Amino acid sequence: MDNRATFNSRIGAVLAAAGSAVGLGNIWRFPCETGAHGGAAFILLYIGFIITVAVPVLICEMALGRRSRTNCYATFKRLSNSREVSVSKPLALLFYLTGAMCVLAGFVLFSYYSVVAGWTLGYTATAGVGGMMEMTVEETGRAFAEFSSDPVMPVVWLVAFVIITAGITVMGVQKGIERGSKIMMPVLFILLLVLAVCSLSLPNASKGLEFLFCPDFSKITTDVALSAMGQAFFTLSVGIGCLMTYASYFSNEENIVKDAFNIAAIDTMVAIVAGIIIFPAAMSVGINPDAGPSLVFITLPNVFNQAFGATPWLCYVVTLLFYLLLTMAALTSSISMLEITTAFVSERFGVRRRNAVAGIAIVTCVAGFACSMSFGEWSGVTVFGMGLFDLFDFFVAKFAMPIGGIFMCLLMRKFGEKEVTRMLTNDGRIDLGCFPKVFSFLVSWVIPVLILVIFVNELL
Ligand code: PFF
Ligand code: NA
Repeated sequence: MDNRATFNSRIGAVLAAAGSAVGLGNIWRFPCETGAHGGAAFILLYIGFIITVAVPVLICEMALGRRSRTNCYATFKRLSNSREVSVSKPLALLFYLTGAMCVLAGFVLFSYYSVVAGWTLGYTATAGVGGMMEMTVEETGRAFAEFSSDPVMPVVWLVAFVIITAGITVMGVQKGIERGSKIMMPVLFILLLVLAVCSLSLPNASKGLEFLFCPDFSKITTDVALSAMGQAFFTLSVGIGCLMTYASYFSNEENIVKDAFNIAAIDTMVAIVAGIIIFPAAMSVGINPDAGPSLVFITLPNVFNQAFGATPWLCYVVTLLFYLLLTMAALTSSISMLEITTAFVSERFGVRRRNAVAGIAIVTCVAGFACSMSFGEWSGVTVFGMGLFDLFDFFVAKFAMPIGGIFMCLLMRKFGEKEVTRMLTNDGRIDLGCFPKVFSFLVSWVIPVLILVIFVNELL
């Protein structure tokens, strides 16, 4: 395995992983979940889950991926057979199945994520030609309903988005993923700050900040807790082998523990800044923040129109920048999803990277097409009472991620405290104090049980 790809630099590796984490989950899903679950209290819970559950699982994922230096299916297979761990036959089978589930989840996620990413791409184009200026709420609402249920246009944008993603991924780990992230992530940070300043300068912005930062604990229910954990997994890309695959390209000197905390800090910051952009703008024009998934596509264009309507050029620029931001964030995440399956297909079947990417992209377009149709003509087609899009999201965020997280913890636990310490400290070259000890204990017992309890509750 000497010629296996690696990231070229430390900063490149961290930016690629942070690029995977920062995505539609931060700018689209986070504000909508926060709005629906009561604001600041939800955010505190969510941050709690990030630190106590998602980051430890993230550390497991990366440590396992770097150790095995292969795709996520082979990681589960190889490590559960390695001489440091002894696993019974039935448990070994469960590990194999988890690996296979990760690959499947990576594909499913890429398919439905590309539908929403396609919308953002389409909105970027519309904003670019000034097509969203001077619309009322009814008009933006109707425009979105017509657009998302159309059988042609969203599919065109979906295919365009998949092609762009494939174009970056096909260039490989260093020239594609790493270089793309190094360019897009700084641009994304700048766009975020510019938009936050614009939003904060609006009248009544403080109301939005209050909603974000003044917790009302009476709003916390078990359902809120469940959603907060789901969001923590989703937003850090944890549980389906994505960062396991990226970490298989890390160097042996990479400080995985530090990286995990950095990635979580960047991701949380982006989510909160996205909240600072969206809620003050919504409040300042008197729009309720609990508008749901349509917040970003219906409410926001209108918010920008009302808020900056007095200066049309500013309104044009802010709207365009916002959708551009959303598209780029989606892109650095989608390349990481595609890499899960690309690494698997190319290594498992020995096909060239180019052919693997092309094949997966084509199948993704077909599955994405079906998801997109579930917003229109196929909305009547349901499985377990869900449309295809919702079913895909359920499978990934509420099934594969928690299950994957539990088995990553279990595999890590099989290595035992001494071996785990060696993995995290790079054979003792990094001083982490008592962290590995505490960590071993947490991932052996506390975290898997916690995830299981919440998972079972969610299914009930
Ligand atoms: N973390 C990404 C987001 O917040 O948009 C979504 C994601 C990417 C989830 C990659 C899972 C994954 F493997
Ligand atoms: Na995220």
